Amino acid sequence: MHTDKEKIDLIETGLDNSFIFIPDDSRRLITKNLVPGIRVYDEKLINIENEEYRIWDPFRSKLAALVLKGSPISLKKNNSVLYLGAANGTTVSHVSDIVTSGTVFAVEFSSRAMKDLINVSTSRMNLVPILADAANPKSYQNMVTEVDVIYQDVAQKDQAWIAIRNARMFLKKEGILILMIKARSIDSTRDPRDVTDMEVKKLEGEFELHELVNLEPYHSDHYAVVVKQIL
Ligand SMILES: C[S@@+](CC[C@H](N)C(=O)[O-])C[C@H]1O[C@@H](n2cnc3c(N)ncnc32)[C@H](O)[C@@H]1O
Repeated sequence: MHTDKEKIDLIETGLDNSFIFIPDDSRRLITKNLVPGIRVYDEKLINIENEEYRIWDPFRSKLAALVLKGSPISLKKNNSVLYLGAANGTTVSHVSDIVTSGTVFAVEFSSRAMKDLINVSTSRMNLVPILADAANPKSYQNMVTEVDVIYQDVAQKDQAWIAIRNARMFLKKEGILILMIKARSIDSTRDPRDVTDMEVKKLEGEFELHELVNLEPYHSDHYAVVVKQIL
């Protein structure tokens, strides 16, 4: 019989132990809970060596799906992140768990979702909720600093342009943009991969492509695009 400690053989991913896999058959991903005892949605909490972790569900979070598809995702403890399309804070909360000494600026234009996001932010000191339209970054320029990473998940037709505008205003030189593309919300009649390629083309000239990942089986017709700013 193995002890619990032996069974839970942690593989660290180089992210200061705030984001790790439990290498059991389920390939579960977890983040160290920034606010022990507090759940953000209905995620499971587990204790490992006196630290509390939150299960990070790839079916609920495209960023978790991207990690499980093998991306190293470039999020470091001290990073500042501009998160566009924060919704009610599911993925945002895991990003907040990871960038423990950084900041997450979370932009969302639905006031209903913002209510939940504000609740999440009250106990998370590194999370700044911003009620605004990501297509108009000037409206929040006084609230956001330069950032290392922009994460965008807005499911909008003009998402490439939204990303470019935000990157020009806030992304550090050589910063990373992670763009989640829901092909069906751009053109439901065309092949999702063709739609995605078209969006990636729009980023050419300002960004260098690092990864283009199909998020199946976690999210159908969704692609993650990871690019680095070259300006
Ligand atoms: C797919 S959901 C995001 C889910 C979230 N990223 C997560 O993983 O927890 C898309 C969100 O983007 C928001 N959104 C769409 N267009 C937006 C815009 N132009 N500005 C701000 N938020 C926007 C929607 O209200 C919605 O909450």
